[in-house]
Amino acid sequence: MAGLSFYSLSNCILHVLLVHYCQSRLIGPNQPITATAGEDITLPCHLVPGENVAAMTLEWTRPDLDPRFVFLWRAGQDLINMKNPSYIGRSSLFTDELKHGNISLKLCKVKPADEGRYRCHIPEKNEEAFIDLVVASSAVSSPVISLEGIDRDKTGVVLECKSEGWHPKPELLWLDAEGNLLSAGPTETLRGPDDLYTVSSRVTVEKRHSNNITCRVQQKQISKSRETHRHVPDEFFELTSCSAAPIVIGLAVSLAVSIILILIGVFFIWRQNKTNVRRAHCDARKEQETANRPESDKTERDQEQDKLMLQDIVACEKNHHAAEEKLKEAHRQLEKKDAEISNMKKECEKNQHAVEKLKEADEKLKAAHRQLEKKDAEISNMKKEPDTSKPPPEKSQTSFEEQNKSDSANHSSKTGDITVVEVEKNGSYIFLKNTSSENKLLSGWKLKLQINNRESATYEFKENFILKAGKTLLLRQDAVNKPNETDADLLWMNMVIWNIGDDVKIDLISNTGEEQMLFKNKIM
Ligand SMILES: *[C@@H]1O[C@H](CO)[C@@H](O)[C@H](O)[C@H]1NC(C)=O
Repeated sequence: MAGLSFYSLSNCILHVLLVHYCQSRLIGPNQPITATAGEDITLPCHLVPGENVAAMTLEWTRPDLDPRFVFLWRAGQDLINMKNPSYIGRSSLFTDELKHGNISLKLCKVKPADEGRYRCHIPEKNEEAFIDLVVASSAVSSPVISLEGIDRDKTGVVLECKSEGWHPKPELLWLDAEGNLLSAGPTETLRGPDDLYTVSSRVTVEKRHSNNITCRVQQKQISKSRETHRHVPDEFFELTSCSAAPIVIGLAVSLAVSIILILIGVFFIWRQNKTNVRRAHCDARKEQETANRPESDKTERDQEQDKLMLQDIVACEKNHHAAEEKLKEAHRQLEKKDAEISNMKKECEKNQHAVEKLKEADEKLKAAHRQLEKKDAEISNMKKEPDTSKPPPEKSQTSFEEQNKSDSANHSSKTGDITVVEVEKNGSYIFLKNTSSENKLLSGWKLKLQINNRESATYEFKENFILKAGKTLLLRQDAVNKPNETDADLLWMNMVIWNIGDDVKIDLISNTGEEQMLFKNKIM
């Protein structure tokens, strides 16, 4: 009992102290605020305890900018002239909230350059709070993996991965099929003029790393991650075994054989010279003796000498033959080796050719990919701005005019035929359908979107936009993800985002001002 009353007493004293003796404080969020480029956001900042600050000077600045003012409120007015030009028309306060001490800043159409540290400041109170803003890009591209070549030293295949349109700076990882990190070269980062980052990295994949390689690009701060897988065919690794080694060995062998051949040649010539000299000597002697003396005159000694000489000549000839044989054998060996080397060379050239072909195919694939992306972008552009540049085909025009004549009221004011098929639960798109059997010209029509009866955004259909009979229309805020099969696809950059649990209301307003509610529900 005593403890409890002491507790409430101390609590009461604390409260009194806080209100009467402690200075009021400006409070901002503890965490950085994360926003996606293109959306409208609020940077929270409020005075505790709350009091009316409408008559005070209120400052929102970015100390790193010049001029540093993001928003300046003085004598009950928004001083636009003081603002940094990049914030003109984009920053405001919630004026109704000022009487509660809430000086949160509203920032429209956030861009990457808005990222930084914001200071919310009330000079009169000598109070400040800092709010960090991180702006995520809405244009990240999936990584693209390309084959760069063969690394003969490591007998591996070199792959490159590249991904564009990131903000803030992401990290790039290479993973094998089991999800193990591969050690790769350094990640190269390029920052474009639009403050978006392009990252790329190379890795040498060896055969022991299984052949399913993943390149993952991720940004944890904005919890975004994109990855691409690539299968490296076994043939690629086999190509790497066609290394320079066999050619080097072949050359060495042929060099050795040539040297042996030359030595044998030299030996042979030397030997022949010697034999010739000896033979000439022998022959001369023989001639001399046969000429000078008749057969019968031959002495014992002479006959002995003749025999010796004959033996000499036979030996000479034998040697000669052996050398010739050896030379021929060396020749044959050299020819064999030559044939082997040229075979090896041919094999390698073939393989090299295959690598080149694969690379070529890869390039073609990439080009086709790019073409496809371009076409995709063109198509979505065409859908975004239908019929402004190109007139609609003759046939649809006439059929439309016919309908217009037969039932013009239907096109100008009746809204009942457009229905909401789906409202995506995380706020990324609205899916509409023309359920009638007639084309609807939506020139000047508007779609109003309200979240929790508060924030609202209006989309105005472009001139000549026709939603054909029975066709669907996707309205989305994200230029990257296309979540659904749809007939028409429009980008709504300023679409307000809702989440699960929000009340979403969608109204369609015709060009004559007739308003019809298409959808009103809590998102589950
Ligand atoms: C301040 O006003 C904004 C805008 O109405 C609101 O989102 C925010 O919750 C308010 N902050 C406080 C502390 O009331």
